[in-house]
Amino acid sequence: MDFLELCKRRYSVRDYSPRPVEREKLDYIMECVRLAPSAVNFQPWRFLLVSDEAGRAKVVSCYSREWVKTAPMFVVVCNDRTAEWVRRSDQMPHGRIDVAIATEHLCLAAAEQGLGTCWVCNFDVHKLSEAFGLPENLEPVVIVPMGYPAQDAVPEKQRKDLQQLMV
Ligand SMILES: Cc1cc2nc3c(=O)[nH]c(=O)nc-3n(C[C@H](O)[C@H](O)[C@H](O)COP(=O)(O)O)c2cc1C
Repeated sequence: MDFLELCKRRYSVRDYSPRPVEREKLDYIMECVRLAPSAVNFQPWRFLLVSDEAGRAKVVSCYSREWVKTAPMFVVVCNDRTAEWVRRSDQMPHGRIDVAIATEHLCLAAAEQGLGTCWVCNFDVHKLSEAFGLPENLEPVVIVPMGYPAQDAVPEKQRKDLQQLMV
């Protein structure tokens, strides 16, 4: 599968089969994530892998959509504010950018392995931090549900055409 095909194959999966994600697949995906680029190579991302029942219930309580309950596991991608690069000229922190890159590595690697994912940012950040007792410096940025799609959907890639994106 070439890269364009992989980009077409990844889509937001919002219905999962209960089949667990194999350890080898998870290891492979996390290795792809580990190799992501980051500003000044600071690698400020931190990962919370959640697959036990109690942990899954905590995640679900922070994002109250029915479909999310079907995911057999979640990767919560956090930014360590004490480890991120801050641009000197305007004080812009770059941790969230780094986290976004790592997260998309995760989603693409998962798609290559036949797994589905979905970016979830519209969750209750404070509730999640509290539920998992995350330290102050760890900012949860994205929740990624991951698992086998319940049924193979045909991705509807509604995108602006290239002309509209040019400035
Ligand atoms: C930064 C970001 C945040 C997102 N947050 C959510 C979310 O909270 N809930 C959700 O269902 N989808 C979320 N999405 C998924 C988008 O809706 C989806 O990527 C977009 O509609 C394109 O569809 P596709 O992923 O199937 O190609 C998010 C995507 C991104 C990149």
